[in-house]
Amino acid sequence: MTKKMSPAIKSVAVTGAAGLIGSAVCRSLLARGVKVIAIDNFSIGSWNQEGADITWEKSNIAHPEVREALDRHLPDAVVHCAAHPGGKSNDEPIEDVEVNALGSMRIFQWCAESKTPVVFLSSSAVYGDQPQGPINESAEAHPGKIYAICKIACERFLKTLGEHYGLKWTVLRVFATYGAGHKPSTFQGVVNVMLTQLMQGERVVSKGLLSRERDLIYVNDTAEAIVSAVFTDKARGRIINVGSGVASDISSIIGACAKALGKNPDAIKIVEEPGLVGDPLYSVADITLARELLNFKPKFTLEQGLSELMQRRSQAAA
Ligand SMILES: NC(=O)c1ccc[n+]([C@@H]2O[C@H](COP(=O)([O-])OP(=O)(O)OC[C@H]3O[C@@H](n4cnc5c(N)ncnc54)[C@H](O)[C@@H]3O)[C@@H](O)[C@H]2O)c1
Repeated sequence: MTKKMSPAIKSVAVTGAAGLIGSAVCRSLLARGVKVIAIDNFSIGSWNQEGADITWEKSNIAHPEVREALDRHLPDAVVHCAAHPGGKSNDEPIEDVEVNALGSMRIFQWCAESKTPVVFLSSSAVYGDQPQGPINESAEAHPGKIYAICKIACERFLKTLGEHYGLKWTVLRVFATYGAGHKPSTFQGVVNVMLTQLMQGERVVSKGLLSRERDLIYVNDTAEAIVSAVFTDKARGRIINVGSGVASDISSIIGACAKALGKNPDAIKIVEEPGLVGDPLYSVADITLARELLNFKPKFTLEQGLSELMQRRSQAAA
């Protein structure tokens, strides 16, 4: 490893590049003429576009091999998206800590030692239960599941590595992001979970109250905020919410998903079951800081995002 002297960012390593958000970040960077080093172990994601400006490294961030992958390319910046999913974290706590805490530390330490700036995808889950009202970055964290505890640990790892090594970091607390890149599942992403059930019939189970409110953001908007953070020096050392700033309750999300699938929302039978540990009632972002620091303006309404998601899924199936 050699220390980098130039602050210009011409190549970016993206961990979790095969997943929903990582793949959108890669596409956005490639569209800007940035070289991409795409790192993933394909445990969940499957996007694998080839091209002259993208190099794939099949690597597990929880293993020392990921440092070798980074050493081979010496990227000018890193976007760290790879993660064990929050929806599985309380059932698979060891895997969660291995990937989300230890694996993240492997990425951060490499960035610290090589003086490479890093953008880390934290999560709205760190806020846990908060009173109504858009949640601002200064709210006290109440992480209620192992995944969220690992995200808070990572935020603090970065602060300490920043003080110790001069690491330049940016933390983005991402709210509920949806798009075509999540495989159908019943544990990952509220929109994905509802679409997956609706594709199988006219019955939807809501694990938790239908009145829960979520901030849904389309993946292209999330990716724009992330790429902007890569190139924005004034965002270094800051924790920034990335959401749409719009509240949607679970009933309306189910209705919008039903419509996107061409189904009659009134014909859907909705069953409310007890909620999951660590799943808050209210999770909606105040995005004032993202607007100020990243010039962030989300473009997609829920209807527009769902329509694009359906188009991309049908293109992929054709
Ligand atoms: N999607 C959301 O709603 C949301 C909300 C808040 C935060 N986030 C965060 O954003 C990031 C990306 O989320 P996403 O929705 O794209 O998830 P995703 O599951 O679609 O993508 C994660 C990728 O990481 C890869 N991965 C998992 N473990 C790995 C390992 N050990 N080594 C290498 N690669 C590994 C997976 O194969 C997958 O491609 C994550 O850090 C997540 O915690 C997502």
